[in-house]
Amino acid sequence: MAKSSSKAPAKDPTPVKAAATAKPAAPAKVPATPKAAPAAAKAPRPAGKGGKAPRVHRVAVLAGDGIGEEVVREGLKVLDAVADIEGFTLERKVYPYGADHYLATKEAMPASALAEMGEMDAIFLGAIGDPRVETGFLERQIIWGVRQTFDLYVNLRPIRLYHEALCPLKDKKPADVDMVVVRENTEDAYAGLGGIHRKGTPHEVAIAEMIYTRQGVERVIRYAYELCKKRNKKRRLTLVDKANAIRAQDIWTRTFAEVGKEYPEVEQDHAYIDAACMWMVKSPEWFDVVVTPNLFGDILTDIGAMIQGGLGIAASGNIHPGKVSMFEPIHGSAPKYRGQNSANPIAAIEAGRMMLEHLGEAKAGKRIEAAVRHVIETGRIRSLKAGAYKCDEVGDIIRDAVATGQGM
Ligand code: IPM
Ligand code: MN
Repeated sequence: MAKSSSKAPAKDPTPVKAAATAKPAAPAKVPATPKAAPAAAKAPRPAGKGGKAPRVHRVAVLAGDGIGEEVVREGLKVLDAVADIEGFTLERKVYPYGADHYLATKEAMPASALAEMGEMDAIFLGAIGDPRVETGFLERQIIWGVRQTFDLYVNLRPIRLYHEALCPLKDKKPADVDMVVVRENTEDAYAGLGGIHRKGTPHEVAIAEMIYTRQGVERVIRYAYELCKKRNKKRRLTLVDKANAIRAQDIWTRTFAEVGKEYPEVEQDHAYIDAACMWMVKSPEWFDVVVTPNLFGDILTDIGAMIQGGLGIAASGNIHPGKVSMFEPIHGSAPKYRGQNSANPIAAIEAGRMMLEHLGEAKAGKRIEAAVRHVIETGRIRSLKAGAYKCDEVGDIIRDAVATGQGM
């Protein structure tokens, strides 16, 4: 699905170098499995039987806050099962960053850890956010920190309904909800330009700039056209913006039309964000691939998550094609469910699937996709809501479905 899914990713040509003083992160307690191996440095890969090098992917695991730990554990359970079958290994290093670590050490996301992650193949993230820490602080340091450091300019969010009963929209069937949102992931109101002046006074001024660069807009639009062409479904790419009110977004309008000339086989479609929200609920079957600025993409994909069955299943990839990228569920940390073994891990499992596709393990990705689809289509899993099943129970069901090739 991702541009890079059909081949093994090239190594980042400009890796972030670890500072000489960098100290390795303390190991977190999370998802240690017997297979886990340290992956701090790039080691030469030994040749396997017959001289064929075994495939090893090195993954940074950041379980984070709240339910992050339990959903990541189930995700890794399924990834290990599929790795066994397809003959590759996921080596991982677990990082402790998140609220507990921050409150204990005042360390949010050290540059040394980011530098190490830059040497790995992918990052698997659970969830970040905790009411004990200032709103948005950890999210900015960790999620946004990774997105920015590695220039992960695509936020890929597939929206697919596997069972009619999971959709809150009347009379919508799986065939009606099958789209991908390509959310720009490095610019817009998220860039952090602005601030608060004379805070707390009657003369307070608060400014947040929406910024768009030609390069930033063009590359994500090109990615979306490519994806739409490769996906080969409706071949309709919808640009979602608010260029009628926010005139700076005219850069999206023009770039979309210009890049579109290179893709005559893709239909160019457009909707303003307000109308797009309306259409998403009224006629989701209209959409194939959507490309949109960061903030609108954030909002639109929560609607998307709901119409595919809820936050329990919605996954995303923060991608820079060919480089280290980060995969995470769309849901947040849901602190009140922490440690209760009641969260639904399918979104994390699906994020793991996207990670494997990015790593060039297309067959493994298909296996997970088939298993998830199968357990939902057949009613083995009937609800995606927290508490409907135990978190590890869902992990077991999907691991077993993967192991026995269900849905294949
Ligand atoms: C998401 C989240 C993040 C975002 C938050 C946690 C900063 O909502 O990935 O959709 O807005 O990008
Ligand atoms: Mn969001």
